[in-house]
Amino acid sequence: MTTNRTFTMIKPDAVENGHIGGILEKITSAGFKIVAMKYTQLSTRDAQEFYAVHSERPFYGELVEFMSRGPIVAAILEKDNAVEDFRALIGATNPAEAAEGTIRKLFASNIAENAVHGSDSDENAAIEGAFHFSGREIF
Ligand code: PPS
Repeated sequence: MTTNRTFTMIKPDAVENGHIGGILEKITSAGFKIVAMKYTQLSTRDAQEFYAVHSERPFYGELVEFMSRGPIVAAILEKDNAVEDFRALIGATNPAEAAEGTIRKLFASNIAENAVHGSDSDENAAIEGAFHFSGREIF
């Protein structure tokens, strides 16, 4: 994976609330190209592994339970400066602090159920993309 890519998930809350279309529209309108995408569900074990870096944080159990409770959309996105630009597009972790027009401001309920994930570095984007997609699923 090259460094002009990032990884995202539309989280279970946003899927449950019917926001897949609205979120994908914001993503593509902002200039991101979808190079891989799937509708899937994390098992408890998948979510524990994906979020292992946060295993010592007090909300880890809640985060794992939330992220595995229903389907998600996982995708790899391509754009110049993808990681940083996508983090700006989604807004602050806590939607109450997210800027107007950001995906979390528009579609997220609260800090625990915040609609979307975005990788925080090029290195993690590559790791997280490979967690969900094989080489022949990326275009
Ligand atoms: S980040 O994106 O890593 O800088 O954000 P961070 O604040 O470190 O949060 C890491 C992930 O944990 C989620 N999170 C929470 N879940 C439940 N309860 C609380 N209080 C909470 N705070 C943060 C946050 O959404 C991050 O998940 P991802 O999937 O990376 O967005």
